[in-house]
Amino acid sequence: MMTGDRDAAVRAAARLLHRRLGIEVPEHRMSVLSSELDHLGGPDGPGAALERLLAGEEAPWDALIDVMTIPETYFFRQFAHFALLREVAIARHRDGRPCRVLSAGCSSGEEAWSAAAVLASITAHPRDAVVGWDVSERRLRAARRGRYGAWSLRAGLRGHERFFVSADEGQEEVAPALRPLVSFARVNLVGPLPSRERSFDVVMLRNVGIYWSEEVAQGALLALAELVASDGLFMLGPSDPGLPRSSPWEHVIEQGARYYRRAALPAVVAPPRVPANAPSRPAGARPAALQPRERPKRATRPVPARDVFDDVRALADVGRTADALALLDGVSAPSARARLWRGILLLDLQRADEAVRVLRQCVFLEPREATFRQWLAHAYEAAGLAAEAARERRNAQELMAG
Ligand SMILES: C[S@@+](CC[C@H](N)C(=O)[O-])C[C@H]1O[C@@H](n2cnc3c(N)ncnc32)[C@H](O)[C@@H]1O
Repeated sequence: MMTGDRDAAVRAAARLLHRRLGIEVPEHRMSVLSSELDHLGGPDGPGAALERLLAGEEAPWDALIDVMTIPETYFFRQFAHFALLREVAIARHRDGRPCRVLSAGCSSGEEAWSAAAVLASITAHPRDAVVGWDVSERRLRAARRGRYGAWSLRAGLRGHERFFVSADEGQEEVAPALRPLVSFARVNLVGPLPSRERSFDVVMLRNVGIYWSEEVAQGALLALAELVASDGLFMLGPSDPGLPRSSPWEHVIEQGARYYRRAALPAVVAPPRVPANAPSRPAGARPAALQPRERPKRATRPVPARDVFDDVRALADVGRTADALALLDGVSAPSARARLWRGILLLDLQRADEAVRVLRQCVFLEPREATFRQWLAHAYEAAGLAAEAARERRNAQELMAG
């Protein structure tokens, strides 16, 4: 294929990705898109990959989503939102109402299962539900499977350990009692939303809008806000684009939780003040009509203590990357996890070559951890090693599929 044809196919694929999914491909990532299209198109090059995309084949779409968005998620990420969800659910149950949660852009399901564990940890309502939507079938398969390695669990289960059971290879699996609460579906958040789904008490759209262009994000956010119950909350990640100022929503940031509520309404929940591992049952009588959901047996495993990585994360979250790195220097006999943190922080500091070195050690220590390979791919990309980045992404995809 001539260079001009190649470029035209790559740019057409970028436009398609934007038109269909809202995902923007910035100029500096065109080479990454190009090498993924090379791989998908085989000997016939990016033009053939474009044909596969236009024909709506699932695998190439999933591959491009993997390359253009970071499949980064973990249990109880931005914990303040889950403390707030707990408050909302307690208030709903007190009024005899269910609590329905939407995890929009749920990726491999950690956010949705975290929300389900919060709901299950308080009094149950038979119509409580958590719905997870994502456009990537590959990620939804992992979400439905509900089995997670150490990296997904790196912030701990925050007092919800009893809703998970130990599985092979040191993984944790969602306990059977949690499964009826949660369903996953393939939904394109920038397309028409499923019309049967109405009214969620909490909608989480966290770390998703960051990939969308501004005009796409505004439309999608307004459509999702329509799904929020009149006294519900719309929770966004710290860097996600927000609703237009002219919309009838009040933007609130309190105790580390960013969310919107309808401006005309008084506050429906108090700010989060429940400790992470508070007793599972709230005070007060439960409406007689509500039967408690069967609970799994309380696990004997202890709640993990706060460790150095909590402090590293806290520093990184407020932009004190160099301090976080200095803290890691004090870790003796660094584990794969410590090396991963070091790699991520080095990337933040734009020290790509060093990040590559550390993340390669990390993958050497934990070769079956897909997320580690994803980060190595990012480091390769940042260091200008596009072919190595593409190879590592494919390794990660195979592990995720496996
Ligand atoms: C970084 S993950 C966020 C996971 C989780 N919400 C969290 O904060 O940990 C971003 C997810 O958004 C999904 N996504 C991006 N554009 C989408 C779209 N148009 N429709 C549905 N999902 C989309 C990606 O597939 C990916 O799984």
